[in-house]
Amino acid sequence: MDDIKLVKMFMDDEIKSEVLKILDSGYYIKGPNLKSFETAFEKYLDVKHAIGVSSGTAALFLAYNEFNFQPGDEVIVPSHTFIATASPVAFFKAKPVFVDCDPETYCMDIEDVKEKITSKTKCITPVHLYGHPADMDPLIEISQEKNIKIVEDCCQAHGSEYKGKKVGTLGDIGIFSFFPSKSMTVGGDGGMIVTNNDDYGEILKVRRDHGRTTKYKNENLGLNFRLNEIQAAIGRIQLKYLPEWIKKRRAIVDFYNEILKQYPNVKIPIEKEWAKAAYYVYTIQIEDRDKFIEYFKQKNIATGIYYPIPVHKQPIIEKLYGKQPKLPITEDIVEKIVSLPLSPQLTDIELERIKTEINNYLS
Ligand SMILES: Cc1ncc(COP(=O)(O)O)c(C=O)c1O
Repeated sequence: MDDIKLVKMFMDDEIKSEVLKILDSGYYIKGPNLKSFETAFEKYLDVKHAIGVSSGTAALFLAYNEFNFQPGDEVIVPSHTFIATASPVAFFKAKPVFVDCDPETYCMDIEDVKEKITSKTKCITPVHLYGHPADMDPLIEISQEKNIKIVEDCCQAHGSEYKGKKVGTLGDIGIFSFFPSKSMTVGGDGGMIVTNNDDYGEILKVRRDHGRTTKYKNENLGLNFRLNEIQAAIGRIQLKYLPEWIKKRRAIVDFYNEILKQYPNVKIPIEKEWAKAAYYVYTIQIEDRDKFIEYFKQKNIATGIYYPIPVHKQPIIEKLYGKQPKLPITEDIVEKIVSLPLSPQLTDIELERIKTEINNYLS
């Protein structure tokens, strides 16, 4: 068992007492906690609508559903991401078109996006991977010129900024996950959809709750993708800490960078001048990655690989869409990437221990 974990959970006394209050109240869904979490999220992001849902995947499903894809329509997605960025596309009989990643930011390669646009492209889904924003301006330009929608996948980028604006607010729709390892969580699964578009804002609120506007009247097609009161309360409290946690995450990234920059065989993360990354994971590239992981395992320090199999090579993608064209950068980096523990709750003692082991291994 690793005694320094990749991620540390945060649940304080305020959260515990709020959860108990909700349990006692018997009021578990569609209550004041959801409303206040959504309002706080809108304020934090400076966005008109925030809609709590049951997961990041549910948020993506609902976002894609609004675009009325026709069979054969294409959605441009990165391959270097979690599969949920792409898999909901298949439910609408549309086709994910995979693009390579930028070797510096790990986000989608804009030149590859331009090459892969066709008359069938209906949507582009940039992922702000590891907390570093994708380069949004060229994507927004393409979207306006060609009438293509943009869904920002911000599941790893709560509070990240692109040119001074919070990610999620730049495209047509932004989506977030509160999965337990994320930069802010809800004590289980949860997600949020955000948009400045009033039409999307209104209909998405209705679709996550059976398409109804009143209790027994269902005027729209919907499903049950609600976020419950306990999770909304945990999210609302955790959101208060997010700015402070982002500072701590950035300080830990600086700490790791300072140690690792002296080793030429290690590639450390790069922050673009237009970005303020709210780092979700700290990912480096190293040639002997598997040995590095094994060494840290022996020292009871967790490491992770986000992600070992690119989405365009996942069996279900090949089964549905056939073997996909090669993506050289993605296929190269997945052999070299490894992530070190990153949590605002990491102690100085733990960080010093990781530092010692990095130096012991590399020097
Ligand atoms: C980039 C990305 N997209 C989508 C998701 C899906 O979110 P969830 O696990 O909340 O469904 C995740 C997280 O797991 C993710 O990291």
